[in-house]
Amino acid sequence: MAKPHASFVCQNCGAVTGRWQGRCEACGEWNTITEESAATGIGAQAAIGMRKGRVFELSGLIETDRPAPPRILTGIGELDRVTGGGFVSGSVLLLGGEPGIGKSTLLIQACAALAAKGQRVVYISGEEAVDQVRLRAQRLGLAKSPVELAAETSVEDIIATLSRGKRPSLVVIDSIQTMWTSLVESTPGTVSQVRGAAQALIRFAKTTGAAVILVGHVTKDGQIAGPRVVEHMVDAVLSFEGEGGRDLRLLRAVKNRFGPTDEIGVFEMTGRGLAEVGNPSALFLSARDAAAPGAAVFAGMEGSRPLLVEFQALVAQSSLGTPRRAVVGWDASRLAMIVAVLETHAGVKLSQYDIYLTVAGGLRVGEPAADLAAAAALVSSLSNIALSADSVFFGEIALSGAIRPVAHGLARLKEAAKLGFCRATIPHGPSERGEAVSKDLAVRGCKHISGLAAEIG
Ligand code: TYD
Ligand code: MG
Repeated sequence: MAKPHASFVCQNCGAVTGRWQGRCEACGEWNTITEESAATGIGAQAAIGMRKGRVFELSGLIETDRPAPPRILTGIGELDRVTGGGFVSGSVLLLGGEPGIGKSTLLIQACAALAAKGQRVVYISGEEAVDQVRLRAQRLGLAKSPVELAAETSVEDIIATLSRGKRPSLVVIDSIQTMWTSLVESTPGTVSQVRGAAQALIRFAKTTGAAVILVGHVTKDGQIAGPRVVEHMVDAVLSFEGEGGRDLRLLRAVKNRFGPTDEIGVFEMTGRGLAEVGNPSALFLSARDAAAPGAAVFAGMEGSRPLLVEFQALVAQSSLGTPRRAVVGWDASRLAMIVAVLETHAGVKLSQYDIYLTVAGGLRVGEPAADLAAAAALVSSLSNIALSADSVFFGEIALSGAIRPVAHGLARLKEAAKLGFCRATIPHGPSERGEAVSKDLAVRGCKHISGLAAEIG
């Protein structure tokens, strides 16, 4: 038999090279390339090549009588929102996140919620012993729920076991990095193994109609075989993130074949597991020092949900030839643009100053609608005059200095009114007729950045 030839695989992105390299040319990471024996058994490949094709049925693209794939709702609202209305039967979802962020906790809670509804739910842990999982469930007050547990790492054994008895609705594999398949020769945790194991589990989901969730650890330095190789193979990718030392956890959809990717779920890690945060705006604004100059509340949208967050700016005299510009939670090039527009069209001189801008609470804002809030925070910090504490801002700023309308104006205003804000500075346009929202909310439409800057400064 021919000797299987080795190849070198980047453990971060899965790129294959013919020789060892210090740096992966595909993803640019250092020290991620290791030698692995050639992927899935050569014998199997040859067998496929020689086999006569099996005849399968082709069906039309348009089929009106076919129902949408069934959804499995966990009842954990923040989770169901991000998946786009529950897990989809027969699909595979990858839940990624740094170790210790709470992936196992979230999933055991989801499993328990589903099992309580009478669904067959299986939780396979490749990392913890059954007793450890049980102990965690006890701590979460879920010890009595009929979730089926196992500590197992062989994908073939798992699939053989699951294929017996009633079809499970949901199978959780915690984590994909601990799984191995005998079809691949490399050690567990390598890219080939992760890919092989994921392939087998995806096939299992498609053939049985069970929803499968794969947990994937991601580390900042990319040392563990990246679930990135799995991202392309699965139907949906959720990422679970935490923010510097706080108990806040954000769940976001990175990819979703069955739903939107702009929704976020907000949780708080408590002594009894993850608690849903139903009103994230209140949480994001809770630690606010409203009287401080440089702070402006942005009425934003995260997917279909309005979310109020605080933009904080610090404009300080610079001692450097090239002033510092640092941004956390927003786009640095967007800040550069706002600074240029303020200089050119509103006479706000910022070029000699260091500028720091952060979005409070660790949220990442991607909307251009935040321009106006960022500009207000910058002008407020420069002039050292605090904005009125009950004001919110939203609006996109064009390069000409014009303030452009943005989507979901009314939803943003409603959220602001609900949280007790009395003033809103927004683009001139249809949303301006805000009396419809609340009589306590004074809405002011702005056409150009110069007017706003003159008013604050
Ligand atoms: P875990 O779900 O094990 O993280 P992951 O699976 O992503 O690695 O969560 C571990 C952390 O969560 C651990 O630091 C302890 C904390 N935790 C709580 O604060 N409260 C709880 O009720 C539980 C179960 C965990
Ligand atoms: Mg875990």
